[in-house]
Amino acid sequence: DVRVVLLAGGRGERFWPRSTEARPKQFLQVDGKESLLRATFTRAAMLTAPESIYVVTHERYADLVRQELPALPEANLILEPCARNTAAALGLAARRLGPDSVIVAMPSDHHITGPARFRVTLQAAVEVARHGYLVAIGIPPTRPETGYGYIRRGAPLELPTVLPAFRVDRFAEKPDRATAEQYLESGEYAWNSGILVARADVLDQEIGRHMPELHAVLEQVQWAAPLPPGLAGQFAGLPGTSVDKGVLERSDRVAVVPGHFGWNDVGDWAALSRLLPLDENGNAVIGEVLLQDARRVVVHGGDRLVVLLGVSDLIVVDTPKVLLVCAREQAQEVRQVARIGAAFA
Ligand code: GDD
Ligand code: MG
Repeated sequence: DVRVVLLAGGRGERFWPRSTEARPKQFLQVDGKESLLRATFTRAAMLTAPESIYVVTHERYADLVRQELPALPEANLILEPCARNTAAALGLAARRLGPDSVIVAMPSDHHITGPARFRVTLQAAVEVARHGYLVAIGIPPTRPETGYGYIRRGAPLELPTVLPAFRVDRFAEKPDRATAEQYLESGEYAWNSGILVARADVLDQEIGRHMPELHAVLEQVQWAAPLPPGLAGQFAGLPGTSVDKGVLERSDRVAVVPGHFGWNDVGDWAALSRLLPLDENGNAVIGEVLLQDARRVVVHGGDRLVVLLGVSDLIVVDTPKVLLVCAREQAQEVRQVARIGAAFA
């Protein structure tokens, strides 16, 4: 009854111009090896058989998913009529999979190391979820990142699980910089990994309690049945709220299992400097790149040779239609130019 649900409907705007609406980042080989989605599927396959792995995404990406994941059974593709963020995507998946299933929701934009420890951590989270909790996986924070959720651990849960688990007494999604710094200094907070484990009925109930508007739409989906055709219009009218903001920040049934594995979010171009091997000047490059006197640059090259001389703290992404040059500390803001840029390209 454990089902892994891969979330693969994001737009990956912070990875523009490599990531586009037609092929967002989860379908790209951001590290030059395999697509993020395929890497996520491989991790899911360590927990369960392909028959129990599902992908929830927008209709538009169905073919990309089929191409990337030939081992995914066709019936395990859950297609949203339109993208309304992760609460809607997971609410839909919960209905579709049936009340008793334990859902392991995995974002498809992570880089994870330590497969054996990953498996045991998730095993513990599944056990806790069976007791009726929404279970997050906590990651020790290393910088005042504003793009993540922060979790304050509460009392230990007295459950016979393979690893210790705790109640969550505060969940704060994407705090501002000053708050993130305070959380980091306090030593009381973990990052939310984004992997969420919950029984489908519990998730559905908590959506009902905290997001009634979404729940009213979900109620039209029969448990464990295919999605009804009339859903599209109602889905379109929903606000796009993440499960983190809509449910985890508000629910009193959230627990956390500290993650004992290597975790990196592949959120923006600057993340490549945490994923790729760096040269002696802290540069991370993919493709044909010639560097002289360059420091802390991230280069994602295309068909041409990229040459950088005497520059530092830059991101350079070369694609046939667009060349992006961006200050490294503004990697998050690529999202803001992506839409305008895409209209011109
Ligand atoms: N199916 C579907 N539909 N998937 C979606 C949608 C949607 O409308 N929107 C986003 N996703 C997918 C993305 O493709 C990604 O794999 C995952 O859901 C998470 O969405 P992001 O947009 O990447 O979230 P985030 O990175 O800003 O924040 C989340 O992850 C952080 C860690 O990486 C939160 O869970 C944070 O609390 C967490 O710290
Ligand atoms: Mg993300």
